[in-house]
Amino acid sequence: MNKDLESIVLTAEQIENKVKEAAEWLDKRFEGKNTLPLAISVLKGSVFFFCDVVRAMKTPVQLDFMTVSSYGNSSQSSGMPRIVMDLASSVEGRDVILVEDIVDSGHTLVKMRDLILGRGASSFTVVTLFDKPSRRKVDIKADYSCYEIEDEFIVGYGLDYAQKYRSLPYIGVLKREIYEKKN
Ligand code: PRP
Repeated sequence: MNKDLESIVLTAEQIENKVKEAAEWLDKRFEGKNTLPLAISVLKGSVFFFCDVVRAMKTPVQLDFMTVSSYGNSSQSSGMPRIVMDLASSVEGRDVILVEDIVDSGHTLVKMRDLILGRGASSFTVVTLFDKPSRRKVDIKADYSCYEIEDEFIVGYGLDYAQKYRSLPYIGVLKREIYEKKN
């Protein structure tokens, strides 16, 4: 385990199981529909979860990416997510699957929902690896959430603190002293 972590939340093997369950849920949801959903990764946090989920799905999907940032190098959300890189494709008339690593305050999800439905998507389905309901500032929920957590600062498998720890293959709780030094 990385020395900056105090405990493991999900091992690589547990993540693999969560990925399979999410992919099965999505396959059921789009079963019999011939629409080629547009799967969107909200970068950078969801990158590994997104790649694993779309590869575990039986339903063919088109892939696209959007970089949205609201935390910068802080452990607190700015409350104003910023689009750093927009989608390459049009969402008009498409079934959109949005893949997130975590829903925390909910600001990012509200921004993405309003933007994508505002651009004329025909449906909007959200899958997230983690949900932190106790931190919600706006009333929004993912359609499918793999794992609900308390208010702990987690990193790994895409999730960062100040851009570090994303490449860890497991997810753990960051020691408080690491992020309290700076904030
Ligand atoms: C994180 C995470 C979600 C968002 C959730 O992204 O990946 O997109 O915050 O937080 P919220 O519900 O409070 O909006 P971040 O802005 O840190 O960018 P990153 O994905 O590049 O780490």
